[in-house]
Amino acid sequence: MELENVEKLASEEIDSCEDLDSLNETRVKYLGKKGLIQGFMSKMKDLSNEERPKFGALVNKIKQAIDEKIRDAQEKLEQKRINKKLESEAIDVTLPGYKFNIGVIHPLMQTIEEIEDLFIGMGYEIAEGPEVEEDLYNFELLNLPKDHPARDMQDTFYINPNVLLRTHTSPVQARTMLAKKGKPIKVICPGKVYRRDDDDATHSHQFMQVEGLVLGKDISLSDLKGTLLEVAKKVFGNERDIRLRPSFFPFTEPSVEVDVSCFKCNGKGCPICKNSGWIEVLGAGMVNNNVLKMNGYNPDEIQGFAFGIGVERFTMLKYGIEDIRNFYMNDTKFLNQFKGVK
Ligand code: FA5
Repeated sequence: MELENVEKLASEEIDSCEDLDSLNETRVKYLGKKGLIQGFMSKMKDLSNEERPKFGALVNKIKQAIDEKIRDAQEKLEQKRINKKLESEAIDVTLPGYKFNIGVIHPLMQTIEEIEDLFIGMGYEIAEGPEVEEDLYNFELLNLPKDHPARDMQDTFYINPNVLLRTHTSPVQARTMLAKKGKPIKVICPGKVYRRDDDDATHSHQFMQVEGLVLGKDISLSDLKGTLLEVAKKVFGNERDIRLRPSFFPFTEPSVEVDVSCFKCNGKGCPICKNSGWIEVLGAGMVNNNVLKMNGYNPDEIQGFAFGIGVERFTMLKYGIEDIRNFYMNDTKFLNQFKGVK
């Protein structure tokens, strides 16, 4: 190959390189130790003294030109490689993001949290007890000895003659009294309860209650009434009426039941409220002296009130839900209505 052609040929080859590997091969071919330029250098020894410097200068000039051209090409190919990589990793920030389904707090939990907030604000503590309970706490220590006819009020799932699924949250009352050993008490106890009730629009075999128990000096029925009115106002607002009705519970004396005016018919009477215009939401009363004594309290020194709120009934009234079974169907169309409520 003639020296004059080398630069042109190298230049064409460099231009045709599409990646760094082929460029490197071209560099070795022309500028490597055994490359073409080196080949011309070794021919210098055969030249005359006059020709040698001229030829040497020319070879050097061509070598530099090829070297420069290779560096330029290397830079460009490097940039091309980086651009390709960036392109493959590019994120289009203008595309809409993925939508995450963040779920919703179950309406029953929303009601419980609302009730808890209210009572914590009034200085109550939260107590808990087991759902698989002993007959002793569920009935006997609440003035319901074995074979007492009032046990039929709460049809029970028995595990064995002494162990059952608690039928109400009231056993937490007995457990709290025994733990506090005669000292004042101000607690609420939220939780699940179980009864062999037939499921219908307002009854479920598993539901939730929030128990309340306040014991101290000079606690009276008017404290109970004031507390329950406060709860009803907070949860239902002023739109609904409430009424206290004399009732019977073996563990309270006197006992009351609290009804709220029906959300469907506004008190006129409809199938939901069984034409009474009212829906029963909780039972309450002054703690029976026998219960105080059995659980280590002296009724002459300390007395108080207790109540048991039906959480499903509260929630149905609050949102106008017609069938209690909606809470347990896991129907996301139903549950999503409560998004953003709390
Ligand atoms: C009791 O369970 C008493 N332990 C409440 C109590 C506590 C009275 C402390 C006095 C002192 P009752 O069986 O009435 O009472 O139930 C209380 C509330 O639970 C009812 O008012 C109702 O709102 C709700 N409830 C009762 N049975 C069901 C059911 N099958 N499904 C849904 N809610 C129910």
